[in-house]
Amino acid sequence: MLERKLAEKFRKLYTENSLKLKNYEDQLFSIQDPFDWIQLLSERAYVMREVYAENEELMAELWENCSDEITPEEAELLYDLAIGFFFDGHHDFVVLTEFCERILPVFKDMDEPEFLVAIYHVLGTEYAKFYRSVGDKKGMQAALDYFRGSIAQVERYSQISSPEVREFIFQDYMLLITYLTGFHTDKAESIRLYDQVWALWDNENVQQLDAENGMISGYLSIIDDAFMAKSRNINLLSEADRDKYINLLGESYKRAKERDGAKEGSPDFRTCITYKWLRGDMESEVVLEKLIKSINEIIPKPDFTKDDPINFELVMRHFKYACTAIMILENMELTSEEIQSWSEKFMPTSMSVLAKIPYRFFTGDMQPVCEQWYHAAEPVISGELNKVQFIMEMIVRRQPFTYIHSQMVAKIATLIGQKILEEDPEIFVGIRGLETVEDIQKSKAYILSYITISGLVHDIGKCYIPDTINRQNRSLNTKEYATIRKHTEIGFKEAENNAALRPYADIILGHHKHYDGLHGYPLGCDNSGSKEKAIIDLISIADSMEAGTDTLTRSYTKDKDSEKLLKELKAEAGTRYNPKIVKIIDNSKELREELKHLTGQGRYDVYYRAMQDILGNTVEEIPII
Ligand SMILES: [Fe+2]
Ligand SMILES: [Fe+2]
Repeated sequence: MLERKLAEKFRKLYTENSLKLKNYEDQLFSIQDPFDWIQLLSERAYVMREVYAENEELMAELWENCSDEITPEEAELLYDLAIGFFFDGHHDFVVLTEFCERILPVFKDMDEPEFLVAIYHVLGTEYAKFYRSVGDKKGMQAALDYFRGSIAQVERYSQISSPEVREFIFQDYMLLITYLTGFHTDKAESIRLYDQVWALWDNENVQQLDAENGMISGYLSIIDDAFMAKSRNINLLSEADRDKYINLLGESYKRAKERDGAKEGSPDFRTCITYKWLRGDMESEVVLEKLIKSINEIIPKPDFTKDDPINFELVMRHFKYACTAIMILENMELTSEEIQSWSEKFMPTSMSVLAKIPYRFFTGDMQPVCEQWYHAAEPVISGELNKVQFIMEMIVRRQPFTYIHSQMVAKIATLIGQKILEEDPEIFVGIRGLETVEDIQKSKAYILSYITISGLVHDIGKCYIPDTINRQNRSLNTKEYATIRKHTEIGFKEAENNAALRPYADIILGHHKHYDGLHGYPLGCDNSGSKEKAIIDLISIADSMEAGTDTLTRSYTKDKDSEKLLKELKAEAGTRYNPKIVKIIDNSKELREELKHLTGQGRYDVYYRAMQDILGNTVEEIPII
């Protein structure tokens, strides 16, 4: 039987542990002195190890003490733990989802709207955060069902005594509507919900309780905005739904117009001109000119040194204005030159705001914004190298550990690649359509840059894995592991749809599959037919060397150096690793020395530079060796 004392102990120690690690992470992102910074890294690695072990024990103790069938008393204790974590911003996927899923049936029996709304809300938001970016439809469907569970309690709104929990209902309407219009493009349901949520807001009891709640008005304006912005596929609606949609848009247009609709550069101004454009009342060119003027001359630039919500709002406004401009451009049936010349008028300003958002600036909220900005802007960026640079800035840089890891892999792979070109260029015959050793020798510079970029983008799929997984203070559960392993397939899908990444698609998909194809993942993946097999093998070796000597992430425990790793490479040459490449490393004392330095002391230089870059402290180009 779980007792209060044990639940309290869990809360206290688990929270302390997570704060301890958070504190290290904060310092990691703020210490300026390179030597202090390196000292901090090794201290952090030690503490991480301790915290992991202790949290494992705490979690085991908690569940051992719970009854097989959770009692209402136990459910309340677990509820307090989970909701407490949620409100404190500890987004521990296991604590939040496993606890809430186990207590949900108990509270369903008790039928208390307040508990139900809170549990559904926590489950919905955590699932959505976890599954949305990896594009997992089943997981997202579960999230949406939890939100539906929450708003199903709407009839008993006045019975909910906690204002925060009442707020959840509006937030859940907002999330449902945004996700439905965005992810599933199910507009019919979101039209119904849009209707409902405004009726709820107009309800007398609701007004009496919450008219003054600014958070709710915030959610309502986001609902208006999402509803308007996602109007691209309006033709897919039935005629009745379309009429209803246009009517509802008209209402949100009226509200926006009454607020700041006439003021150029305001959020409402964009809503108003977009509505006029949708209705066909304003020409595309005219709307574009107005958007461009606001972007370049009117909307102030955010100050990234201040964590002020005003700056957050300014980033969002720049983002939305630019996205609307791109949406309109895409609707105009223009030639690529025309698109180019339009986008040159606003992209430089938007890029200077959006591509340089430092990692520490509203971290969690900015990640999806950067992803969306990348996807919206990518088609109008020209040149392969620019596109890769843009990917690094918008996506990979948002995940510091992946970013740093990728820089290391790129450097290790390029070093080994140089030696292969000197010693046994035949290994590369067949890659990039180069069919003879002479072809290879003529294209050395190109091959090296191909290897470097392969290293930089090989884990691009990791950027779509929720960042919370990387920062857990315990071992991962099976759902989390399964999700991490998806990074190869997610990255591959991304690469297939993206001209700049397409040359690297096989490397992104195959770098965790063993040389002989018998082990590793993804299960069905067969590298043997790939023209780039030699590069896949090279990246796989560089990846193992870097992961095995890394001091930043969860693999730190191994604490090896590159010489020890070479022994492992040799032991698995021919099965896991390409034996020819292993031989090249083994035979060259010079290369081994270089690798030993790079994966030893040398890595701190790479780490530190990458960290400064993430913080937005340098204006240096992304280092392409
Ligand atoms: Fe990987
Ligand atoms: Fe990797």
